[in-house]
Amino acid sequence: MSTVAQILKSKPDHAIYSVPPATKVFEAVKLMADKNIGAVLVMEGERILGILTERDYARKIAVEGRSSHDTPVADIMTGRLVCVLPAQTGEECMALMTENRVRHLPVLDNGKLVGIVSIGDLVKDVIAEQKFVIEQLEHYITGERTL
Ligand SMILES: NC(=O)c1ccc[n+]([C@@H]2O[C@H](COP(=O)([O-])OP(=O)(O)OC[C@H]3O[C@@H](n4cnc5c(N)ncnc54)[C@H](O)[C@@H]3O)[C@@H](O)[C@H]2O)c1
Repeated sequence: MSTVAQILKSKPDHAIYSVPPATKVFEAVKLMADKNIGAVLVMEGERILGILTERDYARKIAVEGRSSHDTPVADIMTGRLVCVLPAQTGEECMALMTENRVRHLPVLDNGKLVGIVSIGDLVKDVIAEQKFVIEQLEHYITGERTL
């Protein structure tokens, strides 16, 4: 499987979407909808304070009956972040996501935020690798050996 750096390079959109902590949840969810993403980082300048995901919205706004127009993201964000380094592997990311029950991992290079890897990015990478192996095996079986 690829490294985190390779997975980040293959993303079509290299922007990192974040909001300041005082942003109202509604605005953050609107950003998620506009960008077709399931999470936004909560940042104060360069500092990451937490992450707000669709799950946070479902459990802490919808279920608890709070107003997304009045609640700042800082009140419901997940503050305990699980981060990865660019040199780590996709397998390590999958293990971290499974152990910690998270679907988004911010990527830090020397303490600086350089990207975010989601569960879908990892699935896409696994599928690409499997497709490559299957093609190689098909060539091998039909005699066009390229392995
Ligand atoms: N075909 C693809 O290239 C691809 C890649 C990832 C996900 N998906 C699909 O999208 C759906 C949802 O994906 P998901 O569960 O991985 O979560 P998601 O919707 O949050 O992620 C979708 C994409 O947005 C990126 N992203 C998410 N939050 C971001 C942020 N704050 N800043 C910058 N980028 C951010 C992710 O890295 C991923 O590339 C799934 O159906 C999945 O299969 C497709």
